[in-house]
Amino acid sequence: MTDTRRPTVISVLCHKGGVAKTTTAVALADSLAADNPTAKVLILDCDEQANVKTLFGIKSTDADGGIASILIENAPPSKVKLTVRPQIDVILSGGRMMRDFEKTFSNDADSELILSKMMKPFDEDYDYVIIDSPPALSLISANIAMYADYCVIPCTTDLLSVVGVKNTMFFLENLRNHFRAKNLSPCKVLGVVPTMYDQRRNLDMTILDDLQRMADADLMSGGIVFDPIRVDSKIKTAQVKRKLITEAFPKTKAREDYRKLASDIQALVTKIAATSARPIAQMSYAPSPAREMSL
Ligand SMILES: Nc1ncnc2c1ncn2[C@@H]1O[C@H](COP(=O)(O)OP(=O)(O)OP(=O)(O)O)[C@@H](O)[C@H]1O
Ligand SMILES: [Mg+2]
Repeated sequence: MTDTRRPTVISVLCHKGGVAKTTTAVALADSLAADNPTAKVLILDCDEQANVKTLFGIKSTDADGGIASILIENAPPSKVKLTVRPQIDVILSGGRMMRDFEKTFSNDADSELILSKMMKPFDEDYDYVIIDSPPALSLISANIAMYADYCVIPCTTDLLSVVGVKNTMFFLENLRNHFRAKNLSPCKVLGVVPTMYDQRRNLDMTILDDLQRMADADLMSGGIVFDPIRVDSKIKTAQVKRKLITEAFPKTKAREDYRKLASDIQALVTKIAATSARPIAQMSYAPSPAREMSL
């Protein structure tokens, strides 16, 4: 990559817990790598639960401080990244150290921009950076939103998850208002990803209709409703085996659904970048093509 090119940074964000944020982040990285055999993908785990570490079966290492040591101790990202597959690197979350980040920086001006600043010299090594986020709308979530170009919002098919989607949109809108004077914006919402969807359940179809109505009424910050990811026990089996879904079950329905999601996301990102005033290669830092659009 050239010096000035940024990767496409996609965060998987949602206020609600247990909606498949981590599963989606890892499956998306997996599918993007499989679809683009020369691409390099970085998974950034920003959730203190450190579930990415568990899913890859990573033993304790010097890189454990991960993103927390980058944010708090100025550790160079190249020192804490781990290569987990030929095309995929990860930066772990640092677990409970993430709480120190919130405590130390929550009152500082522009503390929402620390992650962007720290990642910038490093992320040019990648074509995609995929960020897993905590089930909270905290300082780290604000940092994720300001660093990422785009976000997808997973949502299980129940009422409380839909509320989580709305809260997440509201959070992004507040950030947008807060940083407007500085000509910076949070990530653009690509859309909502219905997860663990079971088409035999009436409720699932009702919630899907509700989400579509929200999108049609332009209540999703311009985002769409992606095709749902079906409930599939093979997801849990692959996770227990510490394998990616493409490795463990290359033909299962969740693998098909995540492949389609990755392909839809790539098409949408290409479309958005094409309508941007400046080509990606001329960008060195925010505003990215997504941030320039009137959201
Ligand atoms: N399509 C699917 N079919 C069946 N199970 C799934 C599917 N997607 C995710 N799961 C399971 O749902 C559970 C929650 O998923 P996950 O940990 O990814 O959610 P999360 O949003 O990251 O949770 P948290 O908010 O705690 O970080 C996990 O046990 C995972 O294996
Ligand atoms: Mg998670």
